[in-house]
Amino acid sequence: MSSSIVRKSTQSLKSETSSKNTSIISVMDTQSYGSSTTPDGTTSPKSFRHFLNERSLKRQPSLIRELTKQFATAGPGTIFVAGGLPNPDLFPYTSLSLQVDENTSINLSGQELRAALQYQPTMGHPVLHEELLKLVKQHFPPPHWDNTGLIVTVGSQNALSGMLEIILENGDPIVIPGPCYSSALSIMDPYSPTYLSVPEDSDGMQPDALRSVLQKWYGTNSPTTQVNGKVKNDFKRPKILYVNPTGANPSGIVIPTERKKEIYRITQEYDLLILEDDPYYFLHFLQQNPTTFLSMDVDGRVIRFDSFSKVLSSGLRVGFATGPKDLIRSLELYLQASILHTASLSQVVVNGTLRNWGTDGFRKHMESVKAFYKKRRDLMLAAAEKHLTGLAEWTTPKAGMFLWLKIRGVDDTFNMVMERGIQRKIIALPGREFMADKSKPCPYIRLSYSVLPEDQIEQGISRLAELIRDEQKRNQK
Ligand SMILES: Cc1ncc(COP(=O)(O)O)c(C=O)c1O
Repeated sequence: MSSSIVRKSTQSLKSETSSKNTSIISVMDTQSYGSSTTPDGTTSPKSFRHFLNERSLKRQPSLIRELTKQFATAGPGTIFVAGGLPNPDLFPYTSLSLQVDENTSINLSGQELRAALQYQPTMGHPVLHEELLKLVKQHFPPPHWDNTGLIVTVGSQNALSGMLEIILENGDPIVIPGPCYSSALSIMDPYSPTYLSVPEDSDGMQPDALRSVLQKWYGTNSPTTQVNGKVKNDFKRPKILYVNPTGANPSGIVIPTERKKEIYRITQEYDLLILEDDPYYFLHFLQQNPTTFLSMDVDGRVIRFDSFSKVLSSGLRVGFATGPKDLIRSLELYLQASILHTASLSQVVVNGTLRNWGTDGFRKHMESVKAFYKKRRDLMLAAAEKHLTGLAEWTTPKAGMFLWLKIRGVDDTFNMVMERGIQRKIIALPGREFMADKSKPCPYIRLSYSVLPEDQIEQGISRLAELIRDEQKRNQK
């Protein structure tokens, strides 16, 4: 599908786009994501090779890592002399106990402890891998389960950076939300990409703006552009749409289901992969868990990143990526060569916690985490209402940890925050960090309500109000 789109002229792409709309909509509605082939001949990408960069296409499996995987699932009695595993009998640890809550503890010794301290397959410790597949199946199963792969990663950041590493070429266009998670930009920036930044409203990335950004890209960078009578071949098509659907960092929005469907349809038309970076999924303040792009992925074009950082521990550094098997395999090869695997001990701790809790315990824990952050959010909103009315604008965060403020009468918040804010002992994050073009003035700041003690929230916001008032006065001079 992709190459045919890329080869078409802008004009034909435009007409194809509008005529395809209806058929894709009707197929998605009537088949409830059951099939990846539409009656007008649109087929799902069977191969993802055209998304991968040259480096990634050259990467071969590591034989040692492949055999380690074999050994991890081999039957009893298998003799393994292939790997460079250190002998775990020499590890100086004999037992480990971790109290999780009053009813739950993790106690490791003997073979279990040895496995927790030993190298593990790159895909993840088999016991955690199995547990995570169950979690995905329960919460957001993709339509093509048989074509779904999962890999345990060092938090979601490792999955995201790995995925970008295997796809991006220098100068690629990338579709991002505006504003965008700053550490995603930090991965992308060195590739000198052209950011196709799509503005958000209170429901996230706006589909009309997304469509027009893509149409404009194809319009001004037609793959068949003629230069001196010769066809120009350096056309770069956007391959990736990066998004935080739940509690976006920094805006706190949650993309509603209908909008997700609309965005998904556009990615079908333009053959984009969706990188669904969703570490705040379990940290929303809604009545029901949000839908996910993964669960509506009839084509196999979504790679979803989950994380235990915000709900179990950020220092354990455990997350996971779920998506089409081919792409997860490419990520596996990259991780085989870079980190080998996520820390075994961390994986065992996460697995022990999930298994001991069971579905019910997990749900209860999530409820208590959500309630905690919701209370903090409400306190910050009340303080903002009291002190910042007239000085700033914001929308209520529906998930996550952040309040995203647009400051009135201040074109650029950078010096206000970094110089005068620090002097006044109020440290926020200038919004510029989240912008694709950091050279432009940015009137936003991001506040976090996650770790500030409840009794300091109002004091912090009132200090910020003073800072803004002074800044507005400075600007009027
Ligand atoms: C949107 C987003 N993605 C990824 C991450 C990284 O999370 P992890 O700790 O799982 O690597 C963060 C952390 O702040 C985040 O906000």
